[in-house]
Amino acid sequence: MNLLRTKTIEQSISDTEEPGHRLKRELSAFDLVVFGIGVVIGTGIFVLTGQVAKDRAGPAVALSFVLAAVVCGLAALCYAEFASTVPVAGSAYTFSYATLGEFPAWIIGWDLILEFALAAAVVSVGWSGYAVSLLGDAGITVPDAIAGPPGEAGGVVNVPAMVLVAAVSALLVLGVKISSRFNAVIVTVKVFVVLLVIVAGLFFVKGSNYSPFIPPSESTPAVEGGAAPLIQVLFGITPVSFGWLGVFAAIAIVFFAYIGFDIVATAAEEARRPQRDLPIGLIGSLVVTALLYAAVSLVVVGMSNYKDLSDAAPLADAFKAVGHPGFATVISVGAVAGLTSVVMILLLGQSRVFFAMSRDGLLPPWMAAVHPRFGTPYRTTILMGLIVAVLAGFIPLAKLAELVNIGTLFAFLVVSAGVAILRRTRPELPRAFRTPLVPLVPVLSVLACLFVMLNLPVETWLRFLVWMALGAVLYFAYGHRNSRLRREVPAVTR
Ligand code: ALA
Repeated sequence: MNLLRTKTIEQSISDTEEPGHRLKRELSAFDLVVFGIGVVIGTGIFVLTGQVAKDRAGPAVALSFVLAAVVCGLAALCYAEFASTVPVAGSAYTFSYATLGEFPAWIIGWDLILEFALAAAVVSVGWSGYAVSLLGDAGITVPDAIAGPPGEAGGVVNVPAMVLVAAVSALLVLGVKISSRFNAVIVTVKVFVVLLVIVAGLFFVKGSNYSPFIPPSESTPAVEGGAAPLIQVLFGITPVSFGWLGVFAAIAIVFFAYIGFDIVATAAEEARRPQRDLPIGLIGSLVVTALLYAAVSLVVVGMSNYKDLSDAAPLADAFKAVGHPGFATVISVGAVAGLTSVVMILLLGQSRVFFAMSRDGLLPPWMAAVHPRFGTPYRTTILMGLIVAVLAGFIPLAKLAELVNIGTLFAFLVVSAGVAILRRTRPELPRAFRTPLVPLVPVLSVLACLFVMLNLPVETWLRFLVWMALGAVLYFAYGHRNSRLRREVPAVTR
């Protein structure tokens, strides 16, 4: 049983040319950067900023955003090398198949479901919350029964979230170019709103709100059991809020705000000049969003004392608090528009990963068909749309957001290790983009991801391990036997 058989890079690339499995190459470097921004700016900045400033980091939440960007930046440098060497749909899954072997690749593919599909469901629920409240402002009341899942204030099903998922899935089926045009419109609105917060907010900033910038650390009421961060349980560290430790611990939460930039790598097969454009797309979108996040969070904590920020809609409420509800409405509209493209692109990433896995026979191959007219992997797109719609409609997801973080960090970790491995095993491969200072950067990336993962709660780790174990069972039940590589590799080498 060879669990570590690898798929050669040449094989991966030649599979992309097969008739019936060929995606349309339509995206430019600019499209990719806009894609990255479209998926990254979302719940993280529109919602988490307030919670994190209030409970963990104070005005220094901006530092947590910068440090989270450093963690992502190290991983982005590694993704850029991989994506420029193996420009094939599937991102971390494909890279792992080329370096670590089939079983680890399956595990990563399975793990990416946590990042893309679960995040899409979580963000669509956030979207539904904003949309229902805006409709309420306009005098249209959405009954509780159709605005939330069972188990939440009178909820039966979250209809707005399901409608959103269905609509963006339909758009994705129609074509990657049309999806990217739609995204470009949304990104314009979203970036405008973010810039508005920065520029208009500056007029209301009070210097006194910045001191102390890093509030002195306070020991928090001991969190016991599953909710305690793993690092606390392993090393007996007393939990604190604020202070430098608070700033570091907050990285694990604001990390969500950057999730998605790696999706640029899953669109590798749809980029016109992947070798040059993927690194630009990955690193460009990360740099732009990191700058915007640092600026927005600095402005917001300057407008209100961090203790007074709101949990649900900190950006809009900061303007209400200084007597400008008009701005608040514009920001809420921006958030509703902005979250639409986050969900759309997360689904795009998920359908590409499933597409790559079914093309390799690790999932049923009928799923890998490309639509004859639209050139999109329509079957995986529709299937994922259905699954995510059901998740968003019927399951209370708030608790699962941290699972998205751990899943993503694990993928970053594996890709970073993979870069160092591939440099040794295939030094001769042409690499359009080379990660600087190998192995230092990949090693730092692995350590940074591990540190952030350790700051996540024990229950998140347990859920993650259960999910991975389920993935392993499925691999042995289906993928291992049906793998295309296994069928094509001669018996002796198996
Ligand atoms: N980064 C995305 C967001 O913040 C997932 O919504």
